[in-house]
Amino acid sequence: MSPALLEADGLCASYGSYRALFGVSLEVPEGSAVALLGSNGAGKSTFARVLTGLVPASSGSVRLDGHDVTGMPAWRIARMGVAHVPEGRGIFSSLSVEENLSLSFRRRMGRGGIGEALDKAYAGFPILAERRRQQAGTLSGGQQRMLSLAKVLAVPPRLLVADELSLGLAPVVVDAVYDGLAEIRRAGTALLVVEQHIDRALALAEHAVLLAKGEVAWQGPPSGAAEAMERILGSGRAERT
Ligand SMILES: Nc1ncnc2c1ncn2[C@@H]1O[C@H](COP(=O)(O)OP(=O)(O)O)[C@@H](O)[C@H]1O
Ligand SMILES: [Mg+2]
Repeated sequence: MSPALLEADGLCASYGSYRALFGVSLEVPEGSAVALLGSNGAGKSTFARVLTGLVPASSGSVRLDGHDVTGMPAWRIARMGVAHVPEGRGIFSSLSVEENLSLSFRRRMGRGGIGEALDKAYAGFPILAERRRQQAGTLSGGQQRMLSLAKVLAVPPRLLVADELSLGLAPVVVDAVYDGLAEIRRAGTALLVVEQHIDRALALAEHAVLLAKGEVAWQGPPSGAAEAMERILGSGRAERT
């Protein structure tokens, strides 16, 4: 059998003397979607950062297509087709919408493809076309999240690690953001969707993984996730959108 697109094996990570991950293993098969769930502080964002080279692993390994990428710098992992939409904004607030998009497209495919990628981004998110000259920092929270996604959508990566895309957004905006994810998925991108609010992520995913206190507490089909969260985290902790 060919290796999964992403294989994390026994990942441990610390911030100084604080240990945030304790041997987390997880696979994302080519073209599939995996939901990574867990309450605040469970280690979800840390895991996302280790995968994409932003935080070093203290032990364990990350493989892409069977190639060991553990310890590689973030830009090299990005060049291998892994995109990370970080928690929060991940955009340059003093630059315009169009400057943000152009910068990201140039980084990933050189100057030549920028025009076409901009057209695709604006087709996917018309609100961004209307606001192309606006400073990104003055967009609403939802519009900023769409800008982060549009950067990815126009040049689909092989794997998208999306961290808490729905956080703080109105339901109608969450719908738009998740439509964007579904579109990326149809274009062949595998997804690792990190969410505290589980319904959207579970509707998209074939597999769910629950982190608790830096460890995998449960994994299985999305249909079993709500029950597992209630059992492991206690009632009321499995926040739903
Ligand atoms: N930059 C950091 N420095 C120190 N501790 C951190 C840092 N980032 C996260 N942590 C700690 O690591 C643990 C896991 O955090 P995080 O990965 O952000 O969890 P989640 O994304 O699941 O909410 C938390 O206890 C958090 O306080
Ligand atoms: Mg987080």
